[in-house]
Amino acid sequence: MDGQQEIEITATAAQPGVPRPPRWQVPPNRMVTLSSGQHIIVRPVAVDDADRMVRFFAALTEQEIYYFFSLDEASARRLALEVASDPAYRLVAVGDLGGQQEVLGYIFLQWRDAGPPEYGVCLHRSVQSGGLGRLMIEHLLKSAAASGVGRVHLTVHPDNWRALRLYQRWGFHVVGDFVNIHQGVRQYRMEADLHLPQPVMTEEVTIIPCNGPGTGPAAAHIQAAIQRKFSCQPLLLDRPARVGGRVIFVADFAAPAGLPSTPAPSYGSDQTTDAGWIASLDARRLLVGGAGRTGMERAARQYAALVAQGTASSFNDLPFERLHIALPAAE
Ligand SMILES: CC(C)(COP(=O)(O)OP(=O)(O)OC[C@H]1O[C@@H](n2cnc3c(N)ncnc32)[C@H](O)[C@@H]1OP(=O)(O)O)[C@@H](O)C(=O)NCCC(=O)NCCS
Repeated sequence: MDGQQEIEITATAAQPGVPRPPRWQVPPNRMVTLSSGQHIIVRPVAVDDADRMVRFFAALTEQEIYYFFSLDEASARRLALEVASDPAYRLVAVGDLGGQQEVLGYIFLQWRDAGPPEYGVCLHRSVQSGGLGRLMIEHLLKSAAASGVGRVHLTVHPDNWRALRLYQRWGFHVVGDFVNIHQGVRQYRMEADLHLPQPVMTEEVTIIPCNGPGTGPAAAHIQAAIQRKFSCQPLLLDRPARVGGRVIFVADFAAPAGLPSTPAPSYGSDQTTDAGWIASLDARRLLVGGAGRTGMERAARQYAALVAQGTASSFNDLPFERLHIALPAAE
């Protein structure tokens, strides 16, 4: 392949059951210029990045560690030193920081078990919100797709809206949620199939999961129904995608605000019923909810069916107004 590097990665004996990733067809480097004018090279991690990786992880803020993770010095160094035997594709963005060439961004796709590889990304705070995240994800996922990788998996915090915007444009959709017991917060599991075309997105409608486990996947159900109807996908975020856009809130009214740090198996279930509601708040805002997870999921399925059966030909005709549907609890 012209201008491409073929990187063979050998899964080490220390990781039994981890498949060997396909040979990685990746350009050896790519020059990019950020909107700030800063020049950056995006390229595969190399053994001599060891010290740079140590400094990159040492400089992460609490917020970045919360959304991503931290690595101690030895692990950060190992990541570069063992890059050829590690079942992962790893890219760095290197540019000037205080007069030195430093790692300003790091992105990876890592095979941990027989399932799809896991994806993660983190940028140095000085280059966030400048488009580098979009460029790095494009470089990694396009090269992964060209190498034969199909499904890809990630986890993300529901309030990490920049990441959510980025991932959904690349075809990631919420497939589940879980409580991260270390942080005591909920996170989404997302998946994408790199062989599928990127979805066409719209900011006319946002779907906002509000409260409780299961609201993310229920919201994704509505998102998929709208996508099927209009071949255009609304964003699932924690805030409206744009001012003045329409919003569908998905809520479990029985779930406590916030989450217990150790989720009990019977969490909330003794006080809930499977009653659900679909209610217009006004012409631009709709509430889909239930008095417990089952009711909330019933209401979400019902609204998805309304979208599928309706005659709407544009987002403006989506059922938003004068909807007051009660789904009574089963006896
Ligand atoms: C999440 C992260 C990778 C995103 O990369 P980034 O370069 O900062 O973001 P981008 O500039 O590519 O923008 C991503 C999206 O957010 C939007 N965005 C970013 N900053 C914005 C701002 N200040 N105001 C409004 N929108 C903004 C962009 O328009 C883009 O949305 P779009 O694709 O719908 O247009 C980066 O911010 C980061 O590393 N954060 C800390 C660690 C982290 O959260 N990692 C992800 C763990 S799952």
